[in-house]
Amino acid sequence: MADLLKLGVLISGSGSNLQSIINHIENGSLKAVIKIVISNTPDAFGIERAKKHGIEVKILNHQDFKNRDAFDTEMIRVLREAEVDLVVLAGFMRLLTPAFLQSFPQKVINIHPALLPSFPGIHVQKKALDYGVKFSGCTVHFVDEGVDTGPIIIQAVVPIQDDDTEEILAARILKEEHRIYPQAIQFFSEGRIDITGRKVRIKTAKSITVQAVHNPPLNGF
Ligand code: GRF
Repeated sequence: MADLLKLGVLISGSGSNLQSIINHIENGSLKAVIKIVISNTPDAFGIERAKKHGIEVKILNHQDFKNRDAFDTEMIRVLREAEVDLVVLAGFMRLLTPAFLQSFPQKVINIHPALLPSFPGIHVQKKALDYGVKFSGCTVHFVDEGVDTGPIIIQAVVPIQDDDTEEILAARILKEEHRIYPQAIQFFSEGRIDITGRKVRIKTAKSITVQAVHNPPLNGF
């Protein structure tokens, strides 16, 4: 266990991304160990997922703390006690304070269900649909003091079909989230992430071969 990347996973809800990380660790494709799962909501289903796999869970209800700083200070203490190497936000619906980010410099990542910088914030699948874009997707990025503005590690693109509903699009995006998040963490585990300013480079990454994708598909052009 000594060499495995030690993760602290923060959740607020269903935890399907947490489940994907657990599954990839258990099938051996992700070289990491989840030391602690923290939930800020006592009824998050993700708690059940973690317990089912024997992972330590800490419920820190943000409403029990006098302010954001007090809440984050306790999270920092719990994560340090667990000696985590990387803090993974998986459907964690709280903004982190500068003090928290300074406690884990370039060691806090998040997954977002849109192609950042487009559609930051919440309800982004509906925003993409309503805006009428032809592609959407998901993004794993470092967390900085902005809302979904940190340097981007990996993205996946999905087409939007004319008859898509918010639910259908969200499900198509979530399927890709469950692939790119374990991949991003594996890049960390292999020490292949290089950050220069806003630019993230994956050392020795295969270069993408797709030249372009069109939606709707071209018809002979
Ligand atoms: C995901 O779409 C994630 O991108 C967003 O919140 C949703 C949470 O999903 N931040 P889950 O809790 O991991 O199932």
